[in-house]
Amino acid sequence: MSYDTLIDKAKEAREMAYVKYSNFKVGAALLGKSGKIYTGCNVENASYGATICAERVAFTKAISEGEKEFEAIAIVSSSEDVTYPCGICRQFMSEFGLDLKLIFTDEKKISEHKLSDLLPHAFTDF
Ligand code: THU
Repeated sequence: MSYDTLIDKAKEAREMAYVKYSNFKVGAALLGKSGKIYTGCNVENASYGATICAERVAFTKAISEGEKEFEAIAIVSSSEDVTYPCGICRQFMSEFGLDLKLIFTDEKKISEHKLSDLLPHAFTDF
């Protein structure tokens, strides 16, 4: 699976974003270890707080379809700059493994980070 494919899927998903309040579109494409891709977009809400980010939509779709292990997630937004996941999404994703690769692009270059680098000293279990 090339990262280009994953990024293309994230861009497709971004078009579905429901962004009535921020007008900031985010798309994510999550590659499961099975080889299947799960996409997500942000879905906003009039209460603001009930808004769900693209990354968590992709993860909840995957988990609810039985996928339990993940390789990588590509994240794109309507900004020209790289959009890094919010703190809630970093914590949410860490539940399923800190080795996850995060793929970003700002249209000029592709960059890759491990989740453990974006969430050092993660809270995991108690
Ligand atoms: N958002 C995401 O979907 N993912 C991120 O990583 C950052 C923020 C969404 C939430 C909200 O709909 C909009 O971007 C502005 O915060």
